[in-house]
Amino acid sequence: MQKGKSVLHEVSMKNYKIGLLKGDGIGPEIVDSAVRVLGAVGKKFDIGFTFTPYLIGGVAIDACGKPLPDETVEGCLASDSILLGAVGGPKWDVLPGNVRPEKALLGIRAAMGLFTNLRPAKLYPALKGECPLREDIVANGFDIMIVRELTGGIYFGERGYREGKYGEEAYDTESYSRMEIERIVRVAFETARKRRKKLTSIDKANVLETSRLWRKIVHEIAVEYPDVEVSDMLVDNAAMQLVRNPSQFDVIVTSNMFGDILSDEASQITGSIGMLPSASLNEGKRGLYEPIHGSAPDIAGQNKANPIATVLSAAMMLLYAFDEKDASEAIVSAVDKVLEAGYRTADLAHGVPALSTTEMTDKIIEAL
Ligand code: IPM
Ligand code: MG
Repeated sequence: MQKGKSVLHEVSMKNYKIGLLKGDGIGPEIVDSAVRVLGAVGKKFDIGFTFTPYLIGGVAIDACGKPLPDETVEGCLASDSILLGAVGGPKWDVLPGNVRPEKALLGIRAAMGLFTNLRPAKLYPALKGECPLREDIVANGFDIMIVRELTGGIYFGERGYREGKYGEEAYDTESYSRMEIERIVRVAFETARKRRKKLTSIDKANVLETSRLWRKIVHEIAVEYPDVEVSDMLVDNAAMQLVRNPSQFDVIVTSNMFGDILSDEASQITGSIGMLPSASLNEGKRGLYEPIHGSAPDIAGQNKANPIATVLSAAMMLLYAFDEKDASEAIVSAVDKVLEAGYRTADLAHGVPALSTTEMTDKIIEAL
């Protein structure tokens, strides 16, 4: 076996072009961690990576006056997949909405057509003690996949300022087309089919027209998936149910803004927002991978951030973009092992000494 290996290696060595969007705050530190982990797993599984950094967010504003330079969009479109850290920070908070760092994130999502955002939130047995919920509530753990629509709704609707009845007024509009709803709902049904076959569609159909169209389409498509149990839930109730009984959920499908809000809530019950990865996909599968958390300017540059959400985002990339199941699972189980062994970064270290970002990364690489 070993003998033929070097030959095999030559023939089968794959090389993936990964665009790195490190961004602002803790972005560079956590992306560097994920790059090191990818390098280590690549060695183990004979997978090559070529990493090319591109500017996005506040650093791009500082360097070239735009949060999403054209070269970044072109570079991302030419890459096999993208790993993103985080964007934004107080320095750029004073800028008008259309030139803020966050606008770049929406811009790259739109430019790449990344309408699907998968945000898995599960309770690691080792982190049960960090979960803010009562022990009996999480006795059975939870494992939720949030399917968030990512390129429509109020994030991309018409907005502006105008003179209203009472003077200055601002508005944002939510609109969803049948096409946008159908394609995300189908992704959710397919996702549920591969899991525990339970889908909860979350909306605000008692108030919003967009939600009523959403709900109607969910039930039209449900006919094609008789094996999946589907139900509707109003978003305010969902916010409550997530902390009352999170284990009732398998796959959740919801709009851009509801998904943004509920995924932060779901992350907190896993113990830390520093744990949640995400995959943003278009019709192809390659997409963009990023932690769901932000740039944490308060701890930026201090080697304190939890790199796990980004490392797990890299694992999602291996699985979804490249179908490298073994390499992906190796990362996931290395993270499991490190958590089981009791290692914690500051966000999770209550009562135990905290590891730095680089130390946590070292531990994950050792565990590979
Ligand atoms: C997220 C973030 C972004 C969003 C912000 C930074 C624009 O909160 O990815 O959840 O709202 O989508
Ligand atoms: Mg968010």
